[in-house]
Amino acid sequence: MTTVKDLRPHPLDQVHRLIEPGPVILVTTRHRGVPNVMTNGFNMMVRHAPPLIACTIGPWDHSYEALVETGECVVSVPTAEMAATVVDIGNCSGVDVDKFEEFDLTAVDGEKVQAPLVAECFANIECRVADTSLVAPYSLFVLEPVPGLDRSNAARPAPVPSPRRRHLHARRPDRRSQGPHDQVAVPSVSPPILWTLETRPCPEQ
Ligand SMILES: Cc1cc2nc3c(=O)[nH]c(=O)nc-3n(C[C@H](O)[C@H](O)[C@H](O)COP(=O)(O)O)c2cc1C
Repeated sequence: MTTVKDLRPHPLDQVHRLIEPGPVILVTTRHRGVPNVMTNGFNMMVRHAPPLIACTIGPWDHSYEALVETGECVVSVPTAEMAATVVDIGNCSGVDVDKFEEFDLTAVDGEKVQAPLVAECFANIECRVADTSLVAPYSLFVLEPVPGLDRSNAARPAPVPSPRRRHLHARRPDRRSQGPHDQVAVPSVSPPILWTLETRPCPEQ
């Protein structure tokens, strides 16, 4: 009979590797006029519509102060090709480095918020902080995408779908895949995601 003792123990400080759900994203801010970008792995969707996104951003990050002071940021979804840069961005601070210059990123002025978009990213979502009640206990910022169009980089060539992606499509056709911009679907750093230039109504559950 199998008992719990037969199962391999797993260290608690590695639990995040088992359950981390979403892509690793970039979060940009503009603090006292200076643009900055950080890497964020602890993030999740909170609500479909109007959408809410939650991100854990620690007080040790310069971005934390920027977010508290300005209440604005851009959630930028990087492409798979940016994976190594994304890690490097998350291993230095905007206090010491101009990360846009250091990592050859193009900061594009947003329409609704002061924080910059990242032109190289697959999608950019302009956000305002909607709820700070979990910042003190968990450094968890609840962000509300500003209504309007999210900005995807439509000029990027369509990637060759991975075998896993084809498999997923074969099992469950994506109900959102109907528009002219579906060709810009790009797998992000961890799970594949779909984003298009157009905002669409949420698929029914
Ligand atoms: C893959 C990866 C994921 C990360 N995820 C987070 C995160 O979810 N929350 C966080 O506060 N820091 C996270 N970091 C660390 C920050 O990105 C890092 O502290 C960054 O240098 C902060 O930049 P800043 O001081 O310019 O804000 C992550 C780093 C990496 C490499």
